[in-house]
Amino acid sequence: MEILKNYPLKDLNTFGIAANAKEFVSVTTIEELAIVLKENEGKKLFVLGGGSNMLLTQDIDALVIHVNLKGIEVVSQDDNTANVTAMAGENWHSFVQYCIAQNYGGIENLSLIPGNVGTTPIQNIGAYGVEIKDTMVSCLAMEISTQTLRTFTNAECEFGYRESIFKGALKGKYIIVSVTFGLSKTNHKIHTAYGDIVAELTKNNITSPTIKDVSNAIIAIRSSKLPDPKELGNSGSFFKNPVISKTQFDALYKKHPTMPHYVVSDTEIKVPAGWLIEQSGFKGSRFGDAGVHARQALVLVNYGNATGQELLNLSEKIQQTVFENYGIAIEAEVNVI
Ligand code: EPU
Repeated sequence: MEILKNYPLKDLNTFGIAANAKEFVSVTTIEELAIVLKENEGKKLFVLGGGSNMLLTQDIDALVIHVNLKGIEVVSQDDNTANVTAMAGENWHSFVQYCIAQNYGGIENLSLIPGNVGTTPIQNIGAYGVEIKDTMVSCLAMEISTQTLRTFTNAECEFGYRESIFKGALKGKYIIVSVTFGLSKTNHKIHTAYGDIVAELTKNNITSPTIKDVSNAIIAIRSSKLPDPKELGNSGSFFKNPVISKTQFDALYKKHPTMPHYVVSDTEIKVPAGWLIEQSGFKGSRFGDAGVHARQALVLVNYGNATGQELLNLSEKIQQTVFENYGIAIEAEVNVI
């Protein structure tokens, strides 16, 4: 467990941005994590998981701790359900595939989301009608200042749309070491309400889909719209879908009757940022090596050597234009460092 100096992070962030960590250490056990935290008390720390939700606009002037804890374990089960714990450093999609292979249902709609297990509760990852909060039983986290472990129940995580207590009141205070999911072994709840899934299944003549069928459909849909970070640097959705008041929506809808929308409550409507960005003319646009993906406008891409600052500039230009056109402030989903 060596602390390395000026460590390159290009291969450790899915945007593929070239930036260095002042110091870097990779931990593979909970004990190592406790030792690193204890021995480096008072130092500025930066916790790195799968690097799939950050935009590096500068070198990281801190000790970067790469959480590389591995392992998957069925901690309890009965005839119908299994509680499965995955360590924070497990690749999320590999974990989803492991669960499907064992016929454990509940997270198949979250196939192919980049990143590691440990980051999933932080932003309550979600796709195709399912969020992590629907199956997460608890997560285990280490308090940075005391190195003590604390179990957070689902309710204690205070989940919201791409939100949790780890982005709010407890930001920077805990490192997630493992996450436990409550999954079904029988009578799987199949979530296919999302339009694209039904179309994909129908295309393949599947009428009663298994969890594996749903996963395959989602892999096909995601692969057709979202770039593979191994081929084209990106961080998934760069922006969150904005939630606006019904009053504002009604006025906008009169002018833009094709605006897609989802009702959140009697007073709130969610509008897809991808649509707002596309209508503002940015889809497929490119400025140097920074661009907007041609098949999903919510995704910013690095064509090779874009700097974080160039991508940030592009994101700000998009925010400004969308605001001028629609009066809606769209917010970044990725963490800008
Ligand atoms: N749309 C456009 N143009 C675009 C993109 C989307 O007009 O370039 C429209 C679509 O036609 C559709 C609506 O926007 O009417 C929604 O599009 P889509 O189904 O692709 O989903 P999204 O709202 O753009 C969200 C998540 C994705 C997730 C998908 C599927 C957020 C910020 N993003 O995208 O999550 O995969 O739904 O559930 O909520 C991620 O977080 O990294 C991510 C990829």
